[in-house]
Amino acid sequence: MTTTFASPSALETAGAPLHGAHPVIEIEKVAKSYSMGELVVHALRGVSLTIERGDFVAVMGASGSGKSTLMNIVGCLDVPTRGYYHLDGVDVRTLDESDLSIVRNRKIGFVFQSFNLIPRTSAVSNVELPLVYAGVRAKERQARAIAALEAVGLGSRRDHVPSEMSGGQQQRAAVARAIVTNPALILADEPTGNLDSASSDEVMGIFSRLNLEGRTVVLITHEDDVASFAKRVIRMRDGQILSDDRAVPLDGAPPRIDASGTVVTPDEQLRAKRGGVA
Ligand SMILES: Nc1ncnc2c1ncn2[C@@H]1O[C@H](COP(=O)(O)OP(=O)(O)O)[C@@H](O)[C@H]1O
Ligand SMILES: [Mg+2]
Repeated sequence: MTTTFASPSALETAGAPLHGAHPVIEIEKVAKSYSMGELVVHALRGVSLTIERGDFVAVMGASGSGKSTLMNIVGCLDVPTRGYYHLDGVDVRTLDESDLSIVRNRKIGFVFQSFNLIPRTSAVSNVELPLVYAGVRAKERQARAIAALEAVGLGSRRDHVPSEMSGGQQQRAAVARAIVTNPALILADEPTGNLDSASSDEVMGIFSRLNLEGRTVVLITHEDDVASFAKRVIRMRDGQILSDDRAVPLDGAPPRIDASGTVVTPDEQLRAKRGGVA
């Protein structure tokens, strides 16, 4: 079977890394409505948002405020009812379904609240999966999957199936699966929602390191503690952006990680800033 693309430029862009001159994400006046019989639900009501390369953004807001709808549009899993979305300078409306699946596979790493690992399948096979879809040969697949598992501290768990891993380990395996294709953009919808606070900090520490390496990270969370890892916090209400606050500069290090890549508490950070005086 041959795959045809909407246009040569769409093809070039689909497989290329996100490192052009454009913001990674440019959303303009995006609305999304769902029709449920007679009823129309306005999940997004005119959202405009620009996210530059290297940013680390937490999206917060009450349940039903439109966070997941926004994330699904950003991740090309859904399309807006109105408005524009440019991903790395490309208007996603110009991409057909096969272009979009290439974009999702190569440019974006997804992490979900419920891990979504395949049961009775080893960690390494789970992590290899996006590379199977990308057509990478078996030997390289395995090497890259093992490297991704090592990057999240699961090198010794490569042959474990999900039921043999803790929630935190399963989510770290899911993060390994998200980064194995080397995406520049990582999207996570409540990735710590099912984790205890120690596992949550571990996962957030990994996102911080990925951001330190230059990857753009956008995550949804309910918890202030989780949002404190991000460089920028966006709050949503009723399908609109309520506030958009930058905690640290775009080109700065993520706030809760030190130079050695270790997670620090806000208290420790404050002490360090005061020159170690308690
Ligand atoms: N597929 C869908 N069909 C109908 N309504 C939906 C659908 N997805 C989301 N909604 C509605 O859109 C609104 C926003 O949902 P969502 O984006 O999931 O919010 P959040 O992630 O902030 O909890 C809610 O009122 C929700 O019920
Ligand atoms: Mg949601």
